[in-house]
Amino acid sequence: MKISIIGAGNVGGLTAMRLAQEGLQDIFLIDVAKNVAQAKAFDMEDAQSILKHNYRIRAGEDISLIRDSDIIVVTAGFARSPGMTREDLLNKNARILRDICLSIKKLAAGSIVIVVTNPLDLMTLFTLKSTGFDPAKILGMGPTLDASRFANLISRELNISVNDITACVIGSHGEGMIPLPGFTTVKGVALDEVMDDVKIGTLIQKTLNRGKEIVSLLASGSAYFAPSAAIAEIVRVIAKDEKRVLGVSAYLNGEYAIKDVCAGVPCRLGRDGIEKIIELDLNSREKESLYAAAAKLKEQYKNLMTE
Ligand code: 2OP
Repeated sequence: MKISIIGAGNVGGLTAMRLAQEGLQDIFLIDVAKNVAQAKAFDMEDAQSILKHNYRIRAGEDISLIRDSDIIVVTAGFARSPGMTREDLLNKNARILRDICLSIKKLAAGSIVIVVTNPLDLMTLFTLKSTGFDPAKILGMGPTLDASRFANLISRELNISVNDITACVIGSHGEGMIPLPGFTTVKGVALDEVMDDVKIGTLIQKTLNRGKEIVSLLASGSAYFAPSAAIAEIVRVIAKDEKRVLGVSAYLNGEYAIKDVCAGVPCRLGRDGIEKIIELDLNSREKESLYAAAAKLKEQYKNLMTE
């Protein structure tokens, strides 16, 4: 199984390391910045003796290294700086993705593409339209990360291990993020049965702001430990055909009564990519929030550069 990671910044680099530690191969790390991917690959391989784990990471600047990949992770692009929304990055990153998509189409037409570049849901749709691939083969990383953040905050609040929490987040990886307390469980019990609404509201708000909070604390760059963990989880589930349900940004074509948008929903993932979009039985408030998120994404997508 050939897995290529485009972009060797903090997210891409750490993703390569996590995949290597999971025992996945063959891993390729690619970045246009001179020598950066190679330097990071050397550094990661140098840890093998201490970690008692054998792995190989091939690296370089040439995009043709993605040739015949089974899975491609796209992390290339600008990260947010303080005060910037993910959407501000839209046109800047679309330009970068446009060239990458051409290469993916030409060199790895059978691949599954996991989009990480922000604004995530818009870039996922852009990748789908630019490659013309089967929608099952194009997904965005967002909600797996958002759910992990929500679970962490719940765990802190309740003083219960994250292992006993299954968090569910849908919508966009941005302002239209929708953590779902009714579908989030603590040892099988819905969150809204074990926590009051005010506390839940606070945790939802914190989850929505977590990426921004980290961006402003870092002052330069954005989160990468949890994002790379989310990517590695998605890649492993697909590579090992685990058939697990994870939240990803998927192309909706009538599911949830939404069309022609990529947005976060739970999906069963396996060797074929998105094997099933799970339609949760949302209440009317949740449905309204999802429709609003989808409408916003549609409007933003229209502003995408056309030249
Ligand atoms: C985050 O949520 C950067 O979108 C990324 O941290």
